[in-house]
Amino acid sequence: MKIHSSELECVAVKPAQYPAAGVPEIAFAGRSNVGKSSLLNLITGRKSLARVSGSPGKTRTINFYLCTGKDDSTDEPVSFRIVDLPGYGFAKVSKAESEKWGEMMESYLEHRDTLLKVVQLVDIRHKPSAQDVQMYEYLKYYGLDGIVVATKADKISNNERAKNIKLIRQTLGMNKGDTVIPVSALKKTGDAELLDVISSLLGK
Ligand code: GTP
Ligand code: MG
Repeated sequence: MKIHSSELECVAVKPAQYPAAGVPEIAFAGRSNVGKSSLLNLITGRKSLARVSGSPGKTRTINFYLCTGKDDSTDEPVSFRIVDLPGYGFAKVSKAESEKWGEMMESYLEHRDTLLKVVQLVDIRHKPSAQDVQMYEYLKYYGLDGIVVATKADKISNNERAKNIKLIRQTLGMNKGDTVIPVSALKKTGDAELLDVISSLLGK
């Protein structure tokens, strides 16, 4: 699948602000600075759909992007939303802020009927953090797990890549049929694989 058009449709901090349901949604979660905005720009082919930041932790809202793509095999148009979830794991965060984050995530993940799957992002260079593991457990609880993108794949060698993907699978406790897709926003690799996975999710 290729995404032809994408636009920011809605920025929300609570359910009353979400756009009307009816369009399938694929959400993206990960620690702050993992490369989420860069990934969204890569797959939508937009230079600055999502803001790439120098200072981590800027996205404190749920951002809904309305996208139109075309299925490779059927040539049929596909409409769906990409949902950019607020990042976690930045150091300087108050208890109140982290509670707000939790509430925001829970109310979206728990009640959104049109949510098909959450793609979790982890940095390919490191063993997933305790918070990454916690996030993945959370997704498992809601049955939204199974797809992980390993970001910044250009930063390590091919040898290391296979080794680190194995470590990611083990640390997150991923199942056999689950997918880890290495992606580099810098080299523009891995986006086609991710879009294929998204396309098959939308086809179901
Ligand atoms: P916040 O919204 O601030 O939480 O961050 P984010 O997860 O959206 O990450 P963002 O896309 O803003 O990228 C964070 C930093 O990592 C930026 O300096 C990017 O240029 C860099 N980065 C993102 N993706 C890649 C990649 O694939 N390769 C390399 N080398 N750098 C990357
Ligand atoms: Mg971002």
